[in-house]
Amino acid sequence: MSEVQVLLEPQYTVKIEQNLLERVQVPHARVALIADETAAKYHLTKLVASLEAGGSSVKVFTVPSGEACKNLDVFAKLLSSLALEGLTRDAAIVALGGGATSDLAGYVAASYLRGIAFYVCPTTLLAMVDASVGGKTGVNLIEGKNLVGAFHQPKGVFASLETLSTLPERTFREGAAEAFKHGLIANPALMQPILEPGFNAESSNLETFLKAVIQVKADVVAIDPFEKHQRAFLNYGHTLAHALEAVTVHKLPHGEAVGYGMHYAAIVGKILGYEDVTGHTKAFLNYQQPSKLPNLGFGDVEPFMARDKKADSEGVRFVMLHEIAKPNLERVRREVLLEAWDEFKILF
Ligand code: GLY
Repeated sequence: MSEVQVLLEPQYTVKIEQNLLERVQVPHARVALIADETAAKYHLTKLVASLEAGGSSVKVFTVPSGEACKNLDVFAKLLSSLALEGLTRDAAIVALGGGATSDLAGYVAASYLRGIAFYVCPTTLLAMVDASVGGKTGVNLIEGKNLVGAFHQPKGVFASLETLSTLPERTFREGAAEAFKHGLIANPALMQPILEPGFNAESSNLETFLKAVIQVKADVVAIDPFEKHQRAFLNYGHTLAHALEAVTVHKLPHGEAVGYGMHYAAIVGKILGYEDVTGHTKAFLNYQQPSKLPNLGFGDVEPFMARDKKADSEGVRFVMLHEIAKPNLERVRREVLLEAWDEFKILF
């Protein structure tokens, strides 16, 4: 087993191993298990058995897969269900599924009785390397992605690697975007393994690789848990990505939007005279093979970019790479964004 410590107060551990779901136990008499309906088909029985073997009484709530669960309606229904079940403050929420499920479940945990314990069992690559670590929880609005939420750190993360083998190949490649991004912003050695032929859920070095990728996230979160500065660097490529997700009403999945968003950010950086990383981001898109973008103009994405959470009263700020592993948060002039959009759109 590999472990990454997230050095916050209180500290928690991300455990990474094959078949970990068979050993997940939490010190709570009552558990509300919020499970993505697809992940539940494959993994629910063994997770419930482990939790019950540890002495927890488990009530399961299944939610639609992916972003379809991440809204205020599902959130409100879950809160009512917990109240009707009579869950008390010493109960815990356990999330089983991808990043959307853990974002939703974490926000339920942050809100119910003003906050109860929360554990995550991520079942996608994206959730393992990003969403499950760091305590960002929340839901989407029609007006934009992740516009409502709270910081609520999990008490433990159980990344059970065999869950990745049940993912469609496309979903695995989607999640690789966040791992590649961790490479670009902090540790370039993490980029190459993704581009090597045969990188997939069965790769022999996956546990070691994921440990290094998750370490990047844990280090950033420990320095800046509430995104006052450095944590925003994890949002490289996300300003356009979130706009693309919102404008396509989530038909474009998050990891694919991040793949496109990183390439757009790389073009912006090249125009501004920073290190040209477009070769890396293009190589990643060649690996990822994202869905085709709909025919969008800059006017379609600009209003969503303007509502990005990194915006302040003076406007939108972008994460830019001055060099690989040297990110910075800065304002970019509209004409540069537009020029970059024209170059980006010719390609896709
Ligand atoms: N997904 C970016 C963050 O957790 O800050």
